[in-house]
Amino acid sequence: MVFRSSTSLIGLLSLLFLLLLLPAASSAIRLGLVRRPSPELPLFREAPAFRNGEECGSSPADTINVAMTLDANYLRGTMAAVLSILQHSTCPENLAFHFLSAHDDAPELFSSIRSTFPYLNMKIYRFDSNRVRGKISKSIRQALDQPLNYARIYLADTIPEDVKRVIYFDSDLVVVDDIAKLWGVDMEGKLVAAPEYCHANFTLYFTDNFWSDPVLAKTFEGRKPCYFNTGVMVMDVDTWRKERYTEKVEEWMAVQKQQKRIYHLGSLPPFLLVLAGNIKAVDHRWNQHGLGGDNFEGKCRSLHPGPISLLHWSGKGKPWLRLDSRKPCIVDHLWAPYDLYRSSRHFFEE
Ligand SMILES: *[C@@H]1O[C@H](CO)[C@@H](O)[C@H](O)[C@H]1NC(C)=O
Repeated sequence: MVFRSSTSLIGLLSLLFLLLLLPAASSAIRLGLVRRPSPELPLFREAPAFRNGEECGSSPADTINVAMTLDANYLRGTMAAVLSILQHSTCPENLAFHFLSAHDDAPELFSSIRSTFPYLNMKIYRFDSNRVRGKISKSIRQALDQPLNYARIYLADTIPEDVKRVIYFDSDLVVVDDIAKLWGVDMEGKLVAAPEYCHANFTLYFTDNFWSDPVLAKTFEGRKPCYFNTGVMVMDVDTWRKERYTEKVEEWMAVQKQQKRIYHLGSLPPFLLVLAGNIKAVDHRWNQHGLGGDNFEGKCRSLHPGPISLLHWSGKGKPWLRLDSRKPCIVDHLWAPYDLYRSSRHFFEE
């Protein structure tokens, strides 16, 4: 009896060893893949050249600045987003794209974008993920913890200083209206313009830890804070730089990391802490969000009533993955017309 139980103990111990060793081994393999000289990016069709309408100006003041992140995992989404913006724009040649990339594969990503959009006015910037790595705390969804997800906090400091206003877009959306309408919003002195959702229960974005702390709970005093989605924002990056808003957002990330857990999501809550109740509200048509379902299951959602200028697959489900799985949601068919994906380099099956 004694002998038997000790063998099972040994068995258990070796199983534990295996479990401890496995993640180390697999992360080493993954690291090896990332280091490969030519990452296997998917292939895309070339988009047509979109030309300005006659009414378009051509001075620097007519430029519309759009910032997005660039990442191998979301590249298909980024391509679709860019195409959708160009296609619905009255003055597509006035668009200037600013892409933030976190990795050493930036040249590969750049050539991918360049060959898909040969006429695009764009620049790519290296976002140094070390700036944020030590400040990230684990959220409820792993994808939210990627350093690049925090790049929007550092956007103002990353793009050139002569850019005073920028539209920040996530990569899982398509624009189905002229972006100039969003660009032209009167900010009324606010730092950020975005759709506001005052019916969402704001309490739920923060933990009991937060609300029960008498000092922290006073954060929103004198404001009427409402949820807004940070995947679609018009940002006054000029004022952001001058008033050092990056530091203000970082301070909250430090509270979360070093003091106590005050929220569950990734880069969104620190934005809310600094800006909620103090943004310029724009029409809800500019962010029909949540089409990816929630953060756990990515269930199908239907559209909210009302006009739509932008469709956003925030949440766990992404339209390109669901379309590939042959189990798409109905709304995913609204994304499909902007898909420039041709094939993966693994399978030459066009
Ligand atoms: C919001 O959620 C909190 C926490 O669950 C709850 O106590 C509160 O009643 C809710 N407020 C509204 C307006 O539903």
